[in-house]
Amino acid sequence: MFRSNTCGELRLSNAGQTVTLAGWVQTIRKFGSITFIDLRDRYGITQLLFSESLNEQLEATPLGREFVLQVTGTVSERTNKNNQIPTGDIEILVNSFKILNKSATPPFTIQDDTDGGDDLRMKYRYLDLRRNPLRKNLELRYAVGRSARNYLHEQQFMDIETPFLIKSTPEGARDFVVPSRMNAGQFYALPQSPQTFKQLLMVSGYDRYYQVVKCFRDEDLRADRQPEFTQIDCEMAFVEQEDILQMFEGLIKRIFKDVKQIDYTETVARMSWEDAMWLYGNDKPDIRFDMKLCNLKKPGTVFLQKEDHSALVNGVDFKVFDEAETVLAVVAPGCSEYSRKQTDELTEWVKRPQIGMKGLVWIKYNTDGTLKSSVDKFYNEDRLRAIADASQAKPGDLILILAGQEERTRKAISELRLHLADSLGMRKPDEFKLLWVLDFPLFEYAEEELEGKGTIGRWVARHHPFTAPKPDHISIMIENDPVIRDRDNYLAHPYSGIKANAYDLVLNGNEIGGGSIRIYQRELQEKMFAALGMDAHEQQEKFGFLLGAFEYGAPPHGGIAFGFDRLCAILGGSESIRDFIAFPKNNSGRDVMLDAPGEIDEKQLKELFIQSTADRP
Ligand code: AMO
Repeated sequence: MFRSNTCGELRLSNAGQTVTLAGWVQTIRKFGSITFIDLRDRYGITQLLFSESLNEQLEATPLGREFVLQVTGTVSERTNKNNQIPTGDIEILVNSFKILNKSATPPFTIQDDTDGGDDLRMKYRYLDLRRNPLRKNLELRYAVGRSARNYLHEQQFMDIETPFLIKSTPEGARDFVVPSRMNAGQFYALPQSPQTFKQLLMVSGYDRYYQVVKCFRDEDLRADRQPEFTQIDCEMAFVEQEDILQMFEGLIKRIFKDVKQIDYTETVARMSWEDAMWLYGNDKPDIRFDMKLCNLKKPGTVFLQKEDHSALVNGVDFKVFDEAETVLAVVAPGCSEYSRKQTDELTEWVKRPQIGMKGLVWIKYNTDGTLKSSVDKFYNEDRLRAIADASQAKPGDLILILAGQEERTRKAISELRLHLADSLGMRKPDEFKLLWVLDFPLFEYAEEELEGKGTIGRWVARHHPFTAPKPDHISIMIENDPVIRDRDNYLAHPYSGIKANAYDLVLNGNEIGGGSIRIYQRELQEKMFAALGMDAHEQQEKFGFLLGAFEYGAPPHGGIAFGFDRLCAILGGSESIRDFIAFPKNNSGRDVMLDAPGEIDEKQLKELFIQSTADRP
């Protein structure tokens, strides 16, 4: 028997037993003729006591940190108990020990707070994974996956694998490609998601599919993005949007319960995309706190249905506001007494290149009801009060205003809102708030450079090209020509108003999942492809298989995919998904442990019909 127990298992009730443990040497402490060693494995730490009788052997074969050790001894009650660890009441009086393997001195300490920098820890990831925080993250990941699988199994979903060597699936990123040795000059693409396969499985009659599956996207990386990441990918046939929302709220609630022991009994909030943009400035608002925006001046055409307050800010010859496409305010509750230094800091914060604003206007709504602002020269107190009222500020609040180009300003104010909430402690890591964002636009306007023809305006799918329009918007799509003739006024094109039958699930301001009801009829799918600028030939070449399948009794269907790594990171209270992936890539897409990507040899290149860099002109 290699070991009788783990290093996390023994308690006072085991006192007197003879046990054998195996693990890694965490620490060595010598007190006179006695040596204490903390032995560690995945399950915990147990203290070992080496008495004088073992000294000779210890001297002959000295131990070091991270040595792999097997010991046999007797469990005994400790005089000096340690209530920080579960095994803290006992220690092992060692009778004999054996070094199973030596270890070089680790490049950083294997402790909760290590001294190793990011790069070093990535290079020695296998050592970093020995540390408790990472082990806990992987345990959490395993628990989330298990909970999801249990729920989906109970709901009759079937786990079906789909291929990795495929043809491009459009999810809006670049493909990673793999050259084919057997097909000269041809390439597979790695799936950005199993989107088309899961739809084909619906055509095949597997009406509830899921897969915990790797997806590959060659895109710029951030804390919440990796080039290969994992989705909990799901699809259902014979459903409407409401069925999907119910089913997958159920999934997340189950994960909360199983993994965090949280009973999320409240109804999951829902918000239209337009309201999310209007009230929070982005499509994944953090609704753990309120701080809704006030659109003091709305841009001409975007939010047709919404109220406009531009009369409040215009007409006093304040050029910054007069010339701005949009003016947006956010209220920092209870911050009217911010010092000059604090408001200056906020101004510097919005001027950082990542935010990109030229300046910040502030209004202090003092507790005595008076108002003071950085633009007192232009706005008298009555005006300021009217702006404060429109912003729903109360005495004691600080109103912060940004002005400029629509998209940038909206993005900036939504970042400012989060920044303020962070500094006011309003984003509590142990509070979880879900939100469905619904009714996204089906299309987005994009400009493309055409050789010799200048730029043209065209439509791109906001979600992906398989997403169905809202049922009552289908006719707008069918009846109108997608060509954008008036680029300056593309918002007036009927396609701008078409809403998608799509939904995102947002958790604490992060998009953890997204999906849609799909197009399942060939005619509408062709119309969609055409709207995106694909002619019949290209449609056939890229998606002939799917269009063909739609001719053989495709059922109405829809689905969703969750970002598994992201969900784990949020549940684990972290911004970075890397900490929840055993072997992640760095921000340049490199695996620094493997030193990948790397070059391949000439012979391999030749076999793959790829010209070597040496041969290139
Ligand atoms: P989507 O592209 O929205 O939808 O992806 C679904 C979820 O996957 C996560 N995600 C990522 N996580 C880590 N790194 C990345 N690079 C990354 N990109 C996306 C996000 C996102 O919400 N086929 C559709 C789903 C469907 O329509 O059913 C799709 O892939 O959390």
